[in-house]
Amino acid sequence: MEKTIYFEEDAVVILDQTKLPGQVVFEKIETIDQAAEAIKKLKVRGAPLIGVAAAFALAMAVKKYSGPEQVLEANFRDWKNTLASTRPTAVNLFWALERMERVYRENRKKPLAELGNTLKAEAEAMYQEDIEANKALGDFGQELLKPGSTVLTICNAGALATCGHGTALGVIRSGAQRGKIDRVYACETRPLLQGARLTVWELMQDKIPVTLITDNMAGYTMKTKKIDAVIAGADCIAANGDTANKIGTSTLAVLADYYDIPFYIAAPMSTINTELPSGDSIPIEERDPDEVRQIRGSFVTVPQVEVFSPAFDVTSNELIDAIITEKGVFRPPYAF
Ligand code: MRU
Repeated sequence: MEKTIYFEEDAVVILDQTKLPGQVVFEKIETIDQAAEAIKKLKVRGAPLIGVAAAFALAMAVKKYSGPEQVLEANFRDWKNTLASTRPTAVNLFWALERMERVYRENRKKPLAELGNTLKAEAEAMYQEDIEANKALGDFGQELLKPGSTVLTICNAGALATCGHGTALGVIRSGAQRGKIDRVYACETRPLLQGARLTVWELMQDKIPVTLITDNMAGYTMKTKKIDAVIAGADCIAANGDTANKIGTSTLAVLADYYDIPFYIAAPMSTINTELPSGDSIPIEERDPDEVRQIRGSFVTVPQVEVFSPAFDVTSNELIDAIITEKGVFRPPYAF
């Protein structure tokens, strides 16, 4: 699997996920504005990767900075605000920006080159920690799966959405490594088709059997295909376990409840925001209506039609059988 992000001298290189699976294209990011645009346009996406990408971008900007030392402070604030304005639901973004700011403040008195290198090292540590967290949560999560499992998932919570291994797909991958996965049903995930474009590509690369369904086939698939578990990622988990994830996730949870199928969320601890008491306080991103009006740039409806396009929904904690993290598996009532 290709790396999703890396440093190259004074630039950040990202795998452009909007071009997958047709083309594997890497893009050089050299400014904060380019980084913010790449996050907004979903060239880099998935809550954990968004956080690490923002950290890489901040480190890059400080490393490249050559203006007066007194103005760095104001610049740093602007860069952080620009990055923070990109994807409001992805809590890892804010977690990563706060962590970078803390390291910036602790090392602010150091010579500029040393400060830049320290921030780069911190961003690289986040990258490594994310992979390790995903492997650990994968190990915990696979214990919930029995041999011969058929699992349904939505969006892409895989290696592409993280720094490696993935969260929901991390559990599936760890299960597959132990021979427990018979098949994965991947919801296509309209409007931007992260399931059809990314999850299918990723699982096929790993030779994990995958069947693509459109989102509205999920109920019939649960009824007829002996689904053993639904596993999804998360963009934000509130203190009571309510979980924001890709739009359509809560529909799957309601269906899974009806068909008596376990519904699991897999996410690193950095996706949990205990300052938010419940899902009601999670901000939900709304996206450009043209993403719904069009598929891959072509209109599929009357171009002027009004559109509602929330990027995420919130699944109530009572519909979630377990939240799988690198610290272990949490069960209701949730207390992190
Ligand atoms: O809009 P996206 O593609 O960034 O949405 C991604 C998801 O909903 C993922 O499930 C979530 O961020 C977790 S990724 C490990």
